[in-house]
Amino acid sequence: MNVITYGTFDLFHIGHLKLLERCKALGASLTVAVSTDEFNSKSKNKITAQPCSERMQIVEAIKYVDRVIPESCWEQKRDDVIKYNIDVFVIGDDWRGKFDFLEDLCQVVYLPRTDGISTTERKQQIVSKFSDESEIATA
Ligand code: CTP
Repeated sequence: MNVITYGTFDLFHIGHLKLLERCKALGASLTVAVSTDEFNSKSKNKITAQPCSERMQIVEAIKYVDRVIPESCWEQKRDDVIKYNIDVFVIGDDWRGKFDFLEDLCQVVYLPRTDGISTTERKQQIVSKFSDESEIATA
């Protein structure tokens, strides 16, 4: 079984790792599509802390991952599923229902997110933690 998943994977965290672990448990080979900087800024309204090339290298180094490809538009999913002979499309359940249109090509699975962590929250925590520290350092 060939599995594919999509995401930004900025400031790679434990929720990302658990998601990739559970993706790989569903098949023999896991392809991860990492969204490009341009796709993030233009279509997902996200500015990433790490450039796409670094996010791709980090995801590629994860032991559950067999192949990394860029995600540069919403429309590429059907082509990717066909090109990589995908059996299962997986994504976190924050996307529930959004990719049911792939069900004629492959199985579509929405996995529960890991509680209490997201890149957005982590960025906010870093900003608040280090702004406190700089206030202490300059006091
Ligand atoms: N994910 C997860 N558990 C989390 C965070 C993310 O399972 N706590 C999953 C998402 O559902 C998605 C994949 O990891 O399938 C990539 O998510 P991404 O959007 O890159 O990460 P987030 O931390 O959700 O980023 P952001 O806060 O920027 O939305």
